[in-house]
Amino acid sequence: MNAIVVYESVYGNTRAIAEAVAQGLGGARALAVADAGGASDGADLIVVGGPTHMHGLSTKSSRHMAVNAAQEDGKTHVEEGADQEPGLRGWLHGLPDANGVRAAAFDTRLDKSPWLTGVAAHGIARRLRHHGYEVVGSESFLVQDSEGPLEDGEIERARAWGAKLADEVGLGESGSQQAGAA
Ligand SMILES: Cc1cc2nc3c(=O)[nH]c(=O)nc-3n(C[C@H](O)[C@H](O)[C@H](O)COP(=O)(O)O)c2cc1C
Repeated sequence: MNAIVVYESVYGNTRAIAEAVAQGLGGARALAVADAGGASDGADLIVVGGPTHMHGLSTKSSRHMAVNAAQEDGKTHVEEGADQEPGLRGWLHGLPDANGVRAAAFDTRLDKSPWLTGVAAHGIARRLRHHGYEVVGSESFLVQDSEGPLEDGEIERARAWGAKLADEVGLGESGSQQAGAA
């Protein structure tokens, strides 16, 4: 069995969470959405995450705004290709239908009530279900401010969540594809 993590990230916080989830899964690959292509084909578990923008999944224009804000302050790290297509929304749109393959969704968002922030993971989970995935988990990880950093303990929590997902879907010791494996 193998697992893959696909993420979108503008400032790097969601990437850090994705990498921790991949570790928790036992060494799964974590791929930026721009590099993911058809990488989910044949996976037994896909875990998909992105930042919450405007109460939901990012759009081309929200990613553009995020990159512009960082360029204006000149101090904030921006992930390569952060405002390029496909974003997570486009990648999910083009995802081939899966017949009950297991999946999980996560997001990063501000540390406030979800009623105020919105939860991108809900939209990710809905799209995965629409494509025939069985969604077995949905989780949010919290940032202190728009550019980060993550709240204390979120990396450890992400690792633990990955391990819990691996248990739930029965990924074995050699279950996930090792980083760099084809
Ligand atoms: C344009 C824009 C809109 C945002 N809208 C929201 C929002 O509605 N709710 C929220 O909790 N956080 C919002 N944020 C904060 C993001 O969730 C935060 O930047 C993200 O979690 C950081 O992840 P990243 O480092 O992977 O980009 C917004 C950020 C930007 C740049």
